[in-house]
Amino acid sequence: MKKNTFLLLFACLICCQTNAGQKGYQLGKAPVDKIISTMTLEEKANLLVGGGYEVVNGKRGAILSEAKIGAAGMTVSIPRFGIPATVETDGPAGVRISPTREGESGTFYCTGFPIGTALASTWNTGMVNEVGKAMGNEVLEYGCDVLLAPGMNLHRNPLCGRNFEYYSEDPLLIGKMAASMVNGVQSQGVGTSIKHFAANNQETYRTENSSDVSQRALRELYLKGFEIAVKEGHPWTVMSSYNKLNGVYTQEDYPLLTTLLRDDWGYKGIVMTDWTDTRNTAAQVHAGDDLLMPGNKEQVKEIILAVKDGRLSMSDVDRNVKNMLEFLMKTPHFKHYQYTNKPDLKAHANVAREAADEGIVLLKNDDNTLPLKKGEKDVALFGIGSYYLIAGGTGSGDVNKAYVVNLKEGMENAGFGLQPKVNTFYEKYINFEKEEQLNEVNHVRPWWSPILPNEAVIDPTYIQLRAKDSKVAIISFTRNAGEGTDRHSGEGDFLLTAAEREMLTNVVNAFHAEHKKVIVVLNTGGVVETASWKNLPDAIILAWQPGQEGGNAIADVIKGNVNPSGKLPMTFPVNYMDIPSSKNFPYDYKGEPFDANKKDIGYTKYDEGIWVGYRYFNTFDKEVSYPFGYGLSYTSFTYNNAKIKRTKNGYEINVKITNTGKASGKEVAELYISAPKSDIDKPTYELKAFAKTMLLQPEESEVLTLKFAAPDLASFHEDSNCWVADAGAYKVLIGSSVSDIRQTLSFELKNPIEKKVKAKL
Ligand code: BGC
Repeated sequence: MKKNTFLLLFACLICCQTNAGQKGYQLGKAPVDKIISTMTLEEKANLLVGGGYEVVNGKRGAILSEAKIGAAGMTVSIPRFGIPATVETDGPAGVRISPTREGESGTFYCTGFPIGTALASTWNTGMVNEVGKAMGNEVLEYGCDVLLAPGMNLHRNPLCGRNFEYYSEDPLLIGKMAASMVNGVQSQGVGTSIKHFAANNQETYRTENSSDVSQRALRELYLKGFEIAVKEGHPWTVMSSYNKLNGVYTQEDYPLLTTLLRDDWGYKGIVMTDWTDTRNTAAQVHAGDDLLMPGNKEQVKEIILAVKDGRLSMSDVDRNVKNMLEFLMKTPHFKHYQYTNKPDLKAHANVAREAADEGIVLLKNDDNTLPLKKGEKDVALFGIGSYYLIAGGTGSGDVNKAYVVNLKEGMENAGFGLQPKVNTFYEKYINFEKEEQLNEVNHVRPWWSPILPNEAVIDPTYIQLRAKDSKVAIISFTRNAGEGTDRHSGEGDFLLTAAEREMLTNVVNAFHAEHKKVIVVLNTGGVVETASWKNLPDAIILAWQPGQEGGNAIADVIKGNVNPSGKLPMTFPVNYMDIPSSKNFPYDYKGEPFDANKKDIGYTKYDEGIWVGYRYFNTFDKEVSYPFGYGLSYTSFTYNNAKIKRTKNGYEINVKITNTGKASGKEVAELYISAPKSDIDKPTYELKAFAKTMLLQPEESEVLTLKFAAPDLASFHEDSNCWVADAGAYKVLIGSSVSDIRQTLSFELKNPIEKKVKAKL
């Protein structure tokens, strides 16, 4: 450091100390610009850097009581301006704080809601909004200000370790879900942080890796959901991701954080970084990160220094300070909200259960295997997952919940009788395995690593005996994943293990020999291989990771109290390698431990471009195991009288859905568009709208309205940096899944629509 710079910095610190004592203009009373004009540089720098972890030890003047709650981060207070400290807490499945506190006898549990993928499977924006309200209320009543959620990165590849926190392979579904979540949470007077912006689609080397993506794929897929959430949800905060985008850290990417987000999309909130160590601080502040999280003292010093030596302009600092002050004025801490530490956990558990009920996807149900007879006795529950439900994934997306209802408990609560010998076998086995693994965990496993007992290997003759003394078999398969690592495509993750396969085959053979049915429950955070074994069981329930009420929700469906209405928010492929991005997904599992030296680390080429998920499978007519948007029901629905009308901004389609079966149920109608020939390749179908009916009684109908705006028809043309909707004949396809189209309409777009964008990323 040059001597002059050092002296200047020293002088400034002295000066800040002096000013710091004087009461200044008060936030909320004086205009923000007035406050900024009297703030010292040190005060400004402090405001732009989170309170960090060291705040726990009382440093940097932030309030202490909140730090003890175990939230992810906080901002610092500047009392002379009435600027409060605020608390930021994870995450997408509910509030993540410590359930106990030093020196306090009470508990501080939060509700474990279904994971993001399960919420998206509801295709019910109203339901997601309700979940958001309940989460937001817990943020508020536990004395926090911002929920670090929703996670909304696109499911580029099923093996991303954090897909469970995210919604879908389709940007429209992502955007609508995220906007509903944001609106729900923020209706409680607290903020959200939509994350991770942007193209953070893998965990491997997440803090160094560059996502190398074409402008078109970026705009149409990876940014589209964020654009919808920003415009329809107005989140208080956006979280810039760990990764690089086309070689530049997103956190240092001015075109991304300012030109695109603020100038093109009109975003007005703050941008905070993901929980990053010190990087190029000046570049981050300039790019438009208003808040560096979790924050450390070096970053504060560096901002001061960078302004002094001209690497950072004061106007950039002031711009960010202004954003921060405007954000802070909205927070409960600023408003002195008297939180109770007592949210209504009972009411929220009901919301969690309803959401889990509606996110369950029925993949198979031959001969009406489901629902089971009410009060059925001697149900044999196989698989550790039946006794050990995975409510949610690991890492910052996990919630410290008071309890988890497993399937065994759920079935008992629902009045089913369980086969006691199978129960006893598993309970003993799991206790033994858990102890073994927990001993190991304490010593070697990192905090994010999934903890799962291995599946039991059961003697086939024992299974044959149980087939005689049971009425029906249910087998659960569980999978877990979480922050910090990606999943792998081998046995035990994407594929069933040998033990699971053997159990499935033996149970199916034994029970079918007795003319008894077998049901599989998939308790997973993401896609697993199903094509090679789905012919074996009679029914398959995809429960996802359904939150703390999961066992009750699965039993609701088994009993028929709830008619499943969830639909897949992504494609289930036949083989992992059928997915175009698999060729460029970093963790290509070959049975060997991952070896960084042998890999092309540093970047991931999104060579598949826009051919992600059903856009690829549908356009190139590739076989899948289960298509996007698919899900069975205990009843049937017809689609009739589809009509289209031009509105001021776009198109409105009405379609009459009738329940033609014997059970009451809800149906999701999906609207796809097939565009006319263009000078760029287009997917045959793209989702442009969806809607869900209310609970329809047998023979009851509802007319659903599906809307989209004319500019939504556009694709992104890289050469001209322009969104273009070509003139010509468009087909409108309304269906129950992407491969089950029930009504077709068409319309003519007379004149092309073009919209140039500013940012090039
Ligand atoms: C995660 C974020 C999370 C933050 C705070 C980071 O490691 O990527 O999603 O909000 O930690 O816990």
